[in-house]
Amino acid sequence: FGYLPYIDIWSELASALALSLYLVPVINITMVLSWVCPSGRISFYHAKDNNLLLTKVSESGAKEQTSLVDVCRAATPDTCHLNPLLFNGHLQTFWTATKSGDNVPVYYKRKIFQADSAMFTGQYAVDFAVEPYDMPPEGELTDQERKYTQPGGLPGRTSFFSQEELESLPSDDSKPMLVVLHGLSGGSYELYLRHVVAPLIEDGTWEVCVVNSRGCAQSKISTGVLYNARATWDIRQTVKWLRKTFPNRPLFAIGFSLGANILANYLGEEGDACQIKGAVLCASPWNLDVSHFTLNQTWIGREIYSKTLGTNMKALFERHVDEISKNPRVDVEAVRKITYLHEFDRAIQCPTWGYPTEGAYYRDASSSDVMLGIRVPFLCVQAEDDPIASREALPFQEMTQTPYGVMVTTSWGGHLGWYEVGGGRWFSKPITNWLNLMAKEIDIQIPGVVENPDKLPGQIAHHDDLNKDADLAPKPDFGPSRRKLNMNLPQ
Ligand SMILES: *[C@@H]1O[C@H](CO)[C@@H](O)[C@H](O)[C@H]1NC(C)=O
Repeated sequence: FGYLPYIDIWSELASALALSLYLVPVINITMVLSWVCPSGRISFYHAKDNNLLLTKVSESGAKEQTSLVDVCRAATPDTCHLNPLLFNGHLQTFWTATKSGDNVPVYYKRKIFQADSAMFTGQYAVDFAVEPYDMPPEGELTDQERKYTQPGGLPGRTSFFSQEELESLPSDDSKPMLVVLHGLSGGSYELYLRHVVAPLIEDGTWEVCVVNSRGCAQSKISTGVLYNARATWDIRQTVKWLRKTFPNRPLFAIGFSLGANILANYLGEEGDACQIKGAVLCASPWNLDVSHFTLNQTWIGREIYSKTLGTNMKALFERHVDEISKNPRVDVEAVRKITYLHEFDRAIQCPTWGYPTEGAYYRDASSSDVMLGIRVPFLCVQAEDDPIASREALPFQEMTQTPYGVMVTTSWGGHLGWYEVGGGRWFSKPITNWLNLMAKEIDIQIPGVVENPDKLPGQIAHHDDLNKDADLAPKPDFGPSRRKLNMNLPQ
């Protein structure tokens, strides 16, 4: 759900590699095809009979109508040529653990936020991308006292804003700004994230900030509250703050992996009131019950991915054990014994949030229904051979019902892999193209118009077929973001 860490997975990697390379008795035909003709197939999923119409401004200033589907198609390269040495989803995914190609520098300055909600008390860290700068010596700017930072200190290329910088932060400029959510146990330093952020900030046209999940990216938590797959409270507070601090900036958002699931939940909960002008959901696990089930179905899924993800979460827990164990419902020893991700969720998420089983948590925190409530344009980018955010969990049908979203899938790419020859990452192209098109060529002041509002999901279309009786059947109300667990989310 994020990235596969460097935590000693090399021996497991080696055995899995050997397995996928040599031990599979029947050579997979697609594998051979990838060798001969190394190109992933690209597919688009969207509503066929209901467009979201957007207004495009041409260079001469003339306005013309276009559709979200056209914008998404224009943003997506015609081909997906990946590195033939990484010829399947597992290899593409494993490669992220090698941390190769880490030549994508993004510098950050950190601001700590105190949660404004009584339900989700505590502090969290937001990292703002800034121009390259020399790292300050240990002191206030590195949080030498470790008030907000774990003992190991800040991640690379990151330091705190000075008081003066914070005071001069507000601006009435109208630059587009991107809010980023990372994967399960990652942070602003993640390479996949920098592959999208770096090209956007290169020419100075974009502003970017990353909302780190509680306790991630070396931040310290100040209460027992961590986060979960529908932890929308911190992005909600951050967006409100951004709206106030940068009143003229059109806000965009992107989520990766678990962060994409959280973002889809947030956008759906916000519905018509959403302040985000456009969003990208990349490698989301969508239907968590299904993605977990498929993860646990195979040996590699269970023993490599689920174990790695479980180990990561256990390590995160251990870094914050003093705070978390103040919650009397958490059994510290039980958490220390877990191996797989679902065991972590059972030991932590269930008692913390009140879910009776991890299955109940997965079903409740999934974004596959909530996405039907999203009322701003969004682009989804998924690899169909993603071993973690599996194909089985993708909302193919839902994508055909909402005009607000388009899903682009590639047949090959792994989980946040998409490695090209030379270390480039394919997914950064459709994503940065789309964000640039939306921010610079679409007039986002003019709201998108749904061609057939009657066909929006959640609306039961009125049938006025003259050859039939009047449609008097009851019309129950489908609320895509209604949940089992009421977390009292602020509006
Ligand atoms: C995961 O798979 C194992 C092995 O097949 C099975 O024993 C276990 O019950 C599964 N767990 C979950 C939570 O699905």
